[in-house]
Amino acid sequence: MRVLVLNGPNLNLLGTREPEMYGRETLADIEGRIRARAATLGIEVECAQSNHEGEMVDIIQAHRGWDGLILNAGAYTHTSVAIPDAITSVEITTVEVHLSNVFKREAFRHHSYISPVAWGAIVGFGSHGYLAALDLLHARAAEAATQ
Ligand code: DQA
Repeated sequence: MRVLVLNGPNLNLLGTREPEMYGRETLADIEGRIRARAATLGIEVECAQSNHEGEMVDIIQAHRGWDGLILNAGAYTHTSVAIPDAITSVEITTVEVHLSNVFKREAFRHHSYISPVAWGAIVGFGSHGYLAALDLLHARAAEAATQ
């Protein structure tokens, strides 16, 4: 099972970016925890980050045929049509993740262009969200294998 973890704009600054909102872990810390969990689940995981919408589209397109995408599209969640189009185009099962509870924040963060094409969304649980997303993709694949 192969899963891509893709983080969008400004998430490379985790650890120093509004730590009261996003926590003190760096992206490298979080990716380390994701890799460790993936190893225990027997999942091959690739982690990527980009500040550029088009590059995120390229990365998603390059993973056609993979079993899952864990996506925190950052601010592009609320603006991008190209990213959900890429998800639909390659038909990759997607879990949308947000560190913060976007529904407790400004109204413009309440709308997601990703949610309608995602399997589901996990918001507000900090970095635990990425690990929960891995568990859920693993459980989904295990369930599908028994059917
Ligand atoms: C975020 C929420 C977005 O609204 C914001 O633009 C981000 C981070 C989150 O993980 O909580 O960059 O996706």
